[in-house]
Amino acid sequence: MSQKIVTVQRHVLEAQQQHPEATGDLTGLLWDLILAAKVISCQVNKAGLAQILGLTGSHNVHGDEVTKLDVFANDVIYRAMDHGGHLCVMASEEADDIIPIPSRFSKGKYVLLFDPLDGSSNIDANVSVGTIFSIYRKKTLGSDGTVEDCLRKGIEQVVAGYIVYGSSTVLVYSAGYGVHGFTLDPAIGEFLLSHPDIKTPKKGKIYSVNEGNVLQWDEGTRKYINYLKEDDAATGRPYSARYVGSLVADFHRNLLYGGIFLYPAGHKKGKDKPQGKLRLLYEASPLAFLVEQAGGMATTGRERILEIEPEHLHQRVPLIIGSEQDVQQYLGFLNQG
Ligand code: AHG
Ligand code: MN
Ligand code: MN
Repeated sequence: MSQKIVTVQRHVLEAQQQHPEATGDLTGLLWDLILAAKVISCQVNKAGLAQILGLTGSHNVHGDEVTKLDVFANDVIYRAMDHGGHLCVMASEEADDIIPIPSRFSKGKYVLLFDPLDGSSNIDANVSVGTIFSIYRKKTLGSDGTVEDCLRKGIEQVVAGYIVYGSSTVLVYSAGYGVHGFTLDPAIGEFLLSHPDIKTPKKGKIYSVNEGNVLQWDEGTRKYINYLKEDDAATGRPYSARYVGSLVADFHRNLLYGGIFLYPAGHKKGKDKPQGKLRLLYEASPLAFLVEQAGGMATTGRERILEIEPEHLHQRVPLIIGSEQDVQQYLGFLNQG
């Protein structure tokens, strides 16, 4: 029997109908976001042709170079989301502070956090990039959202997801009832259900890490990576190394195939505390929500990502995420030191 054709809009709507108390606000919010994703996808696919290729020469708050497509994606999401009446505030990896909803528009009860274009340094080489998003319910009183509404533990997320602009454009989301993937058919402009109820394998055969940083890692991480390279058919080793350098693309592959992604803390010269690179609110938390929904795990090595109380908007954390048995095994190595 062939599979039913289901658009992401219908999928979201049917999920909403399971909840008689739902007002339709979240559904409306997601539809606006899906529109933004289609616009960004279209532009990413034209990147090699568009004059906007290249760097602006400016840097974002993390000190990274900002390509014009980052700015474009950020702007598209803002313009698709500011006037729908569903949001009270937004925050983006590309903006220093929270992004208020203009006073002329009505405010809603949701908060949107996003990384508009993850892996953007890869664009010039035609490597996959993505958009990551995270939605919370407003918690403060009053109609305007505040920074407090954005500094939230990942377990409080209402929806998390990403769009990966790869060999095709795929949207993956979870509203806390499993993880579902949709592939964009560019001819009809619709995301169609292609990966219902994704479960990540309990154990994989892939590890994804920037091994150039090996000298900055702690002993446990080094021993773990060396262990994965040993030859032992009984335990499925050696693992294969796969690292694109776009978190969203590395995560998506490992979610489907199983395995482990690591961006551990680095002990950099001149820095007193070891630091991770990836951002808690825009990258780690939403992907942790998805991986747990798919049966996997996400940790800093010390704590569950979803339980971290954020201190500031652009906080970075170590991120170890993937198949449950692989992450557990990593923790075992880390605890042995
Ligand atoms: P962004 O493009 O949003 O700044 O994120 C880049 C991130 C992430 O996508 C990727 O996993 C990581 O940077 C790669 O870092 P390294 O180049 O240090 O490996
Ligand atoms: Mn990113
Ligand atoms: Mn980014």
